[in-house]
Amino acid sequence: MNSNRVKREINMQKKVFRWGIIGPGRIAHRFAQGIKAAVDAELYAVASRDVARSRVFARNYGAEKAYASYVDLLEDSKVDAVYIATPHCFHFDQALMALEAGKPVLCEKPLTVNAAQTRILMKTANLKGVFLMEALWTRFLPIYEDVRRWLEGGSIGRPQLLTSTFGFRAPLNYEDRLYNADLAGGALLDIGVYNLAITQWVLGRNAQYFSAHSHIGKTGVDELTSVDLFYEDGTASQFTCTIKADTENDFNIYGEEGRIRIHPPFWDATKATLTSKNESLTVEKPYIETGFEYEIEEAMRCIRLGEIESPKMTHAQTLATMTLMDKIRTAIGLKYPFE
Ligand SMILES: NC(=O)c1ccc[n+]([C@@H]2O[C@H](COP(=O)([O-])OP(=O)(O)OC[C@H]3O[C@@H](n4cnc5c(N)ncnc54)[C@H](OP(=O)(O)O)[C@@H]3O)[C@@H](O)[C@H]2O)c1
Repeated sequence: MNSNRVKREINMQKKVFRWGIIGPGRIAHRFAQGIKAAVDAELYAVASRDVARSRVFARNYGAEKAYASYVDLLEDSKVDAVYIATPHCFHFDQALMALEAGKPVLCEKPLTVNAAQTRILMKTANLKGVFLMEALWTRFLPIYEDVRRWLEGGSIGRPQLLTSTFGFRAPLNYEDRLYNADLAGGALLDIGVYNLAITQWVLGRNAQYFSAHSHIGKTGVDELTSVDLFYEDGTASQFTCTIKADTENDFNIYGEEGRIRIHPPFWDATKATLTSKNESLTVEKPYIETGFEYEIEEAMRCIRLGEIESPKMTHAQTLATMTLMDKIRTAIGLKYPFE
């Protein structure tokens, strides 16, 4: 283990784990509902630039504290960990501030806008001995355990080809973060990150080379991006992510001896089908509340053990995806105004 990692035994004696939320916007609601289903967890504090928004959110979810600034929340010694739910371009500064204050961080995807920022956060987490994880909640959904078992049990043989889409038609709104280049908008960082993270979860290694093409819209963000990844052994993964059209949104893993289909929407899946020479089997695994409860419980488990990263969503994996997204952005000519 890295000698800089000071194992911290946080909350071992405490029964209830107290979460704080930074940025109570759209996705924060799903997280707050997820906490209800997580064992021994509570939403304790919320911080917004707008204290009225904090108060309404805190009241809705029974949180004790409603702060008017993120710093105030980070200074509250009762907060055991923070969940950062602001647009991507703010993740780096806010996560850095939290880590430096000694607060464990679960930060929405993508962890940062680029790999350089990711490296700094990881270095800080290691130096401070504080937990940091990208909130790639899909990886913790129960159905993915079945998919893992099929893959490891050799049910489809060696994977040869992965195909997936993540697309939805987002109304053209230049103010919305999705279309806003100043907020690091576009399809790749917002949703392509799931296609990449699940590809990595299935294959467990980095692509040898890739090709990528995009439609960059009027606001300067990628509205549609298609990527082909190729691996040394001839395996390929192809995906398209788009905010211009509703797509199938399943994830298929074709092997030498069969196929696994993670049913749509694959990032929020409760159902998967295994088709092989010997069997055809569909499994359903509904989640308890919102599906976020599993990543919440994993973060709490790691933090209670004093870990700096989760073995299920490691720093190396997040960094590999961020590095690949940097390369894809270079290939498609997508640079944000603030970079
Ligand atoms: N896991 C998932 O399934 C999922 C789904 C959707 C989004 N996400 C991720 O969650 C993050 C937030 O997405 P969202 O759609 O929930 O965001 P959002 O509702 O647009 O904004 C969330 C919060 O961020 C702050 N914020 C928004 N715009 C800002 C601006 N222009 N300047 C400064 N602060 C701003 C606000 O915090 P204050 O209240 O402090 O003002 C707002 O309450 C994104 O990184 C996204 O990738 C994840």
